[in-house]
Amino acid sequence: MSFTPFALERWQSTWEHRVRINLSESGVHALSVAELLSLAGDDSDDLLALPLSYGQSDGSDALRAEIARLYPGATPDHVTVTVGSAEANFSTCWTLFRDARRVVILAPTYMQIWGLAANFGVTVAPVWLRHELGWEPDLDEVRRAITPDTDVVVVTDPNNPTGHILSDAARSVVLEATRAAGAWLFVDEVYEGAEHHGTTTPTWWGTWERTLVVNGLSKAYGLPGLRIGWVVTPPELRARLLERHDYTVIGAGPLADHLAVRAVRHRDRIFDRTRDILNTNYPVLESWLQSFEGAFTWHPPECGAICFVRYAGGPSSLDLVERVRVQQDILLVPGDHFEMPGWLRLGFGNPTDQLREALDLLRPAVRTLLR
Ligand SMILES: Cc1ncc(COP(=O)(O)O)c(C=O)c1O
Repeated sequence: MSFTPFALERWQSTWEHRVRINLSESGVHALSVAELLSLAGDDSDDLLALPLSYGQSDGSDALRAEIARLYPGATPDHVTVTVGSAEANFSTCWTLFRDARRVVILAPTYMQIWGLAANFGVTVAPVWLRHELGWEPDLDEVRRAITPDTDVVVVTDPNNPTGHILSDAARSVVLEATRAAGAWLFVDEVYEGAEHHGTTTPTWWGTWERTLVVNGLSKAYGLPGLRIGWVVTPPELRARLLERHDYTVIGAGPLADHLAVRAVRHRDRIFDRTRDILNTNYPVLESWLQSFEGAFTWHPPECGAICFVRYAGGPSSLDLVERVRVQQDILLVPGDHFEMPGWLRLGFGNPTDQLREALDLLRPAVRTLLR
C-alpha cells in the first residue's frame, strides 16, 4: 500500500523558520512565557521550581479538571491530554480506523485525518463545503454521503482553511445522519475561541453519545509551542486511546502542563487578545486583496487567522507559493495542500507591522504572477 504524506505539514515544517516572513500560520502570533504568566496573574516561582520529571501521561489531574469544565457533563475521566491536537487526532485515528470501513470527511480541511484514514486503509468519502453556499455543505449531499456502512464522520468546526463556522442547520443534518448510521462523530474544534465576532462556537460534545472532540492550545490560545492538545471522549474509548498514546509519546511534559493549566483557566483573557489581533489584521489583508480588483475571490473568514482565496489565472498554487518563497522569502500555503488547486491560504495572525511589510513585498510579485 502506498503512503500518503502530509504535504501541508512537510511544507510548513521545512520552511516556516527559514523564511523572512511566515504567512503560513493559522493561529495568532504566540504569547511569551512572561506574557502568559502575566495574563494568568502568576509569577514564575512555581514554574522555576518545577521538577523536570515525567508528567502524568494523560495530563495532570489539575489540567484535566480545567479542561473538563469546558464540556457540559464531562469529568476529568473523559479528558486525555495529548502532545498537540495533532497527537489527539493521530491517537484517535489509530483507535477508530483499525476496524473502520468508510469515513465521511467534510472538506476542505486540515488533511491530517484524511491522510491517516488513507494510510490506515479506510475509504475516504469527502463532502465538499461549497464556496457558492458560503462554505456550507449541500445538506442533501451530507444525507446521502453518511451511509449505513459509514463508521466515522469527521468535521473540523470552525473550519481550516475556510474560517467558516457551520450553520445550525448543517450541524443538525450532520448529527441526524451520523446518529442514523450509528457512526462516531469526530470533531476537531481547535479554532474554537478565535471567532472574529467574539462568540465562542458551541462545542459538539454531548450532541450524540458517540461524539469525541479534539482541541488544543495552538490556535485561539496562541500557544503552539506548548504542544498541548486534548481529546474528550466517552471513558471506554478513552481507555483504548490511552493504549495508543502509550506507544506514541507517553505524555506531554510537566512544564507545558503547568502553563496549560493557567492558559485554560484564563482563556477568556487570552481569547480577547486573539480577537484583538484578528480584528486589527483582517481589514489590512482585506484591503490588500481588494486592491487587486477582482483577481481574488473569497468569503471573509468568521474564525481563525486564515483567509482562503481563489485567484484568477497564474501558475498552479504549488508553483505560485514556491516562487513567492524563493523570490520574496515569504511562506504561503497552496490550495493544492487542501485538494483545492487555484486557491491560496493566507495567514494574518502575525504582528500587524510584519503583516503589512509582507503584503507590501508581495504586491508587485503577485501582480506579475497573476498577469
Ligand atoms: C484543524 C487542525 N487540527 C489540528 C492541528 C494541529 O495542531 P496542534 O498539534 O498544533 O494542536 C491543526 C494545525 O494547523 C489544525 O489546523
